[in-house]
Amino acid sequence: MASSRHIFQAPKGMRDFFPEDMAIRHHLEQAWRSASIRHGFDEINGPTFEHLELYTIKSGDGIVSELFSFQRSGGQTDYALRAEFTPTLARMVAAKGRSLTVPTKWFAIPDLFRAERPQKGRLREHRQWNVDILGVAGPEADAEVIAVAVAALRGLGLGPEDIRVRISHRGAAASMLAALGVPEDRMTEAFGLIDKREKLPSEVFTEQAAALGLQASGVAKLDEMTGSRISGDQPPASIAKTHGLPVESVAELDALASELDKRGLLPFCDWDLGIVRGLAYYTGTVWEIHDARGAFRAIAGGGRYDGLVEMFEGPSTPACGFGMGDVVLALLLADRGLLDGDVSLCPRPDVFVLSSGHDQAEDLLVPLSTGLRDIGLHVRHTWKATRNIGKQFKEAASCRARIAVVLGEEVGRGMVSVKDLDAAEQFDVSLGDLSTWITRRLAGGVERA
Ligand code: HAM
Repeated sequence: MASSRHIFQAPKGMRDFFPEDMAIRHHLEQAWRSASIRHGFDEINGPTFEHLELYTIKSGDGIVSELFSFQRSGGQTDYALRAEFTPTLARMVAAKGRSLTVPTKWFAIPDLFRAERPQKGRLREHRQWNVDILGVAGPEADAEVIAVAVAALRGLGLGPEDIRVRISHRGAAASMLAALGVPEDRMTEAFGLIDKREKLPSEVFTEQAAALGLQASGVAKLDEMTGSRISGDQPPASIAKTHGLPVESVAELDALASELDKRGLLPFCDWDLGIVRGLAYYTGTVWEIHDARGAFRAIAGGGRYDGLVEMFEGPSTPACGFGMGDVVLALLLADRGLLDGDVSLCPRPDVFVLSSGHDQAEDLLVPLSTGLRDIGLHVRHTWKATRNIGKQFKEAASCRARIAVVLGEEVGRGMVSVKDLDAAEQFDVSLGDLSTWITRRLAGGVERA
């Protein structure tokens, strides 16, 4: 039936993951997990859906308009698929009250769901690495989470010429907007406009800025201030000076600069008043990571949200962190030639077992493979009907096996032929010595023929 065709495709904005896609996903997650653990963060997770109000309380209109919400059939309670992780984290921290050790350093890698219009870099489901520090009010926590993000990106092969951490402060942005005449009660709206600035055609930006009460000169000044950034090695005070802002409005950024410097991160950073973040709960420093050429959407975003835990009835808890999605990151890595996007990220078999088709070889194919798997090796053998050795070697090469074990006539004499496919060297090995021989070879030991 033509009308039900669509059910045989993944829903709009959702993804299927074939083995090559899973290999890419694992590659990213490995870099994320490794950077988190190296910096002393513990992994957590939460439910895939939450009460709807968890998001309507404080995430801000952007996310609320993108929720997938539902009720249980016959039920009355409103739920929503997890659209971001921060409310869940704040709820979990609030539930533990004062019993958590300070600082609390947690990371999570949840799947998130947002009913966005699918486009390049934005889907309806993505996996997002979250790294947060709770209980530390000073800039050392902001610098630490930025350090974790940069460490993962460096681990994936990206350098300061590829990625920029664009840092700002909601206080500085508010004083800039106030100086231009934006009234206090329209600040959130103004932040929303700045957040969308790079995605809006300039006439729409001008129109919406004018609707906030700005004169034409104010719109031009806002455009100029939010469109200019300075590199991290210059003091944030100079951006305040350039735009006539009070130096106190960037005092926290000055303190952050010295923490970033201690960690060698300034070459990755820019000070940029155009970053304000779309989510409502941020209270101070805010930042995003973008590709240096500005060809893609944000790779990561985060900042300080000192009031959120208290809002969920927990103790007053300073907090900061970020989220980094898998979608834009994979696009950027592919663009830089850092993802082969193919089998090369899939796990390499240690051994591929070939059979010449002789009775004794056939009898040994599965038991030998089983024995090698039992000692912890990744073993594959052909499932094809062909016993053509050349074709089986091609199969071994295409899955990038390290060692090929050829079962031929000599199995009758207790011998097999073994080929180290990386070194292109061949050996005759007795069946009794085979597992020891293979483990030594894989560990880099040199064997005599
Ligand atoms: P966010 O800016 O909404 O922040 O998302 C963080 C990152 O997740 C984005 O920079 C982007 O890489 C990715 N992302 C977001 N939406 C999508 C989408 N529809 N498709 C693909 N990727 C997407 C937050 O979610 C905050 N809760 C992060 C945070 C943690 N702040 C403090 N701690």
